[in-house]
Amino acid sequence: MHMEPIRLGVNVDHVATIRQARGTKYPDPVEAGLLSAAAGADSITIHLREDRRHIQEHDVERMLARSPVPVNLEMAVTDEMVALACAARPAYCCLVPERRQELTTEGGLDVAAHLDTIAAACRRLARAKIKVALFIDPWPEQLEAAAKTGAPHLEIHTGRYAEARSSKARNAERKRIASFTRAAAKSGFEVHAGHGLNVENVGDIAAVPEIVELNIGHAIVARALYIGFPAAVAEMRRAMNDARHPRP
Ligand code: PXP
Repeated sequence: MHMEPIRLGVNVDHVATIRQARGTKYPDPVEAGLLSAAAGADSITIHLREDRRHIQEHDVERMLARSPVPVNLEMAVTDEMVALACAARPAYCCLVPERRQELTTEGGLDVAAHLDTIAAACRRLARAKIKVALFIDPWPEQLEAAAKTGAPHLEIHTGRYAEARSSKARNAERKRIASFTRAAAKSGFEVHAGHGLNVENVGDIAAVPEIVELNIGHAIVARALYIGFPAAVAEMRRAMNDARHPRP
């Protein structure tokens, strides 16, 4: 079976986390994005959170002005964020749930419970020519609801897979993701995935043939502290490609 190379979106939020810890101008997530793109990232992801704990609005503007690859803006489904995205016009938006106390995005969107709000946001973003992904858990009821929103892309939340404590639990999550992906692709969605992926666990997800893109942040930024961004991005690319196209 011919498979397209899998795309890598590098999330540079946590470069901004280090900057915000001291209120300095460095390190700059935009520079990290440029290094990632030069090292083979297909897109750069930034999450503008409501509390601005890492990425700031000026980062979004500067990233959009300078990135040679498409920018994917992650954001909550609020009027403020949708208006901001429609003005900034990134190529992609990923709609995520957001609660202020959480350390990171802990679960997917409950599309079924917020269908009208999410569908309205998708329509506004589509009018601004932004391709929208819904970040959801790989559950059939979410797929069914997502199909009513008009969003062209889904991003599967891989947190449960990444955090599984036993190989049995992890394998069950892997299977759930693979069968969800097949069903979503059949329904016409372009399928992405991300959250908690690192070089050790990325292979099983990259090997799912219908997954088109992975968005990976924390593990790449953490690894870049030791070996630099270009090497950390290249290492992740290799792990993804090796799983996608195993050598005989
Ligand atoms: N995709 C989405 C929608 C996310 O919210 C996150 C976390 O910001 C990621 C991917 C990347 O997750 P991680 O930083 O664990 O690689």
